[in-house]
Formats: sequence, structure tokens, C-alpha cells
Amino acid sequence: MVFDLKAATRTPPKVVKVRVRRYNPETGSSWWQEYEVETYRGMTVLDALLRVKAERDHSLVFRYSCRMGVCGSCGLVVNRRPRLACQTQIAEVASEGRPVVELEPLYNFRVLRDLVTDFTEFFGKHRAVKPYIMRRDVREREEPTLEYSQTLDELAEYYEYSLCISCGLCDAACPVYASDPNFLGPQALTQAYRYVADTRDELWEERLRFLDVEGSIFKCHFAASCSAVCPKMVDPAGAIQRLRSTLLKYKIRLYRKTRIAKVVPPMEKREPPKPLPPEATLVEGVDLKLIEEEKPVIPVEKLLTT
Ligand code: SF4
Ligand code: FES
Repeated sequence: MVFDLKAATRTPPKVVKVRVRRYNPETGSSWWQEYEVETYRGMTVLDALLRVKAERDHSLVFRYSCRMGVCGSCGLVVNRRPRLACQTQIAEVASEGRPVVELEPLYNFRVLRDLVTDFTEFFGKHRAVKPYIMRRDVREREEPTLEYSQTLDELAEYYEYSLCISCGLCDAACPVYASDPNFLGPQALTQAYRYVADTRDELWEERLRFLDVEGSIFKCHFAASCSAVCPKMVDPAGAIQRLRSTLLKYKIRLYRKTRIAKVVPPMEKREPPKPLPPEATLVEGVDLKLIEEEKPVIPVEKLLTT
């Protein structure tokens, strides 16, 4: 999701109408309820909901925890777009011309009450792709004594996908997820790729074989709405394409993981690096001796007196 950074400097309309899609599981009834909320500059959708709950209607139910875009629990639909309530400023979604903020529970999730949805199926699918490092040496994995060695390039292969906070916004925006209950969804598939791409994972074939049978991965028709709403720029649509290509190549025997991270002693127990031979410190055309003797731009004495 591209953040509207300018919104942080804008002043929202003085008063906004917060329209909430409510649901009562005891009676099975669903209705829109409207609250007028006085705003302030920097007010988020979550702040507005908290104000409604504190001052107007304590029966209103919604979920949140960290208030800083980290826990992923405050996801809802704001003016028809899945967003994090704590990361969305009122000024981003309401204007003087249209001072209305419509809030609904996440699409494609079962509603428990008002804005709170059931994540049981979501986490079931997440668990199904085995979102953890699998090694043949189970004892070392469970009670590690050593470390896995990984280069920065290898880390870069999956780092972006490890930023997922499991907020479910991508699944709420996915048209395939809406129509096919067997589709694992962008979040779970992204995590599957995150571990397939991780060189520390040794049993990646197990995960690929599972995905080949389950999850209808080839049903994704690249609407890319998942990536458009992701608050952490994870790009689930890109991960699914990469996973799909890996799986296809694997099926026709064109893909093998070329490097599996080795276990190495922890940093403090490793042998210190051997000193470089004197000739290795000579850089052609540069007199290192001169550089060492070069006076600092600001004399140290001056630094000490200021
Ligand atoms: S991929 Fe993005 S939108 Fe989907 S669950 Fe993870 S953080 Fe949320
Ligand atoms: S409250 Fe944690 S992400 Fe919004």
C-alpha cells in the first residue's frame, strides 16, 4: 500500500460521520450505525473508534492491541478498502467534501460481532504451509547449539516476506479467496514462499509437494489487490508468482535448492580471522601511511572545547 504521507500534514474535517457496519450474533441482525465524531489533526480511525466507545456507545466491539501497525489485529474495511485502523488517519479517508468514514469488518472472514472477525481458518491455512524452518537434524533445530550461516544475498531473497504481520488484509482483498474456500490465500502462500526461499530450510520439497496438491495455487489470477492493500509492503502477489514458477520448475525437474545453510559455531566460538598479509593492505595509487597521518578536518582540541 502506498501511504498517503501528505495526510499526516492535513487537517481532517472538524466533524466526521463514522458509519459502522454492526452485527449482533445473538439475534443474527446486521445494520449500519452512525456516530458523529469530533476530530483532531493526526487522529486515526482507531482513535475515532476509541472515542465512540468511550463517549458514545460502549457496546461497539472492535479489536486492536499495539496501536502502532505491528500486531496486525486492527484490520477492517475503511471506505471499501482493507486497512489497519491504527495506521489510517481520518484525513486520509475523509474530506470536507465527503466527511464520512464507513467501517466494515474484513471481507472474506466470518464476522463474530460488529468489526471483529474470526481468524481460525486464516491461521489454519497459515499453519498448513509449515511456516517454520524444517531441518533433517531435528535435535539441532529444537535445541540449537550452533548457528546457521547465511549470506546477505540469501537473506534478501526472503526478507521482504518475513515482514508479514498476519493482519489478513491481503486475504480480505483477494477475489479468489472470496470465491474459493480451498484457496490458501495470499498470506499463507507468501509464507510458503518465504520458507522455500530461505536457505536454512532443508525440507522445502515437502512444502512444494503439499502445495502442488493443496491450496489451488494456480487459481491465483494475479489481480494483485493483495499487494495493493498490504500495510507492510510485503508484495504477496509477487511471492505467489515466484512460488508458482518455483513449483512449475520443480515439477519438470528444473529446480533444486542449490544451497542449504550449514551449521557453524556461534560467532564468539569461531576462530578469529587470520590477519591479512602486508601486501593485501596496499591499495594501488593510495598511500595508506599518508591517510593515517592526515589531520582531521576539525582539530580534536576544537571538538573538546565546543
Ligand atoms: S502479506 Fe501484508 S496484508 Fe497480507 S497478512 Fe501479511 S502484512 Fe497483512
Ligand atoms: S493495533 Fe496493532 S496493528 Fe493496529
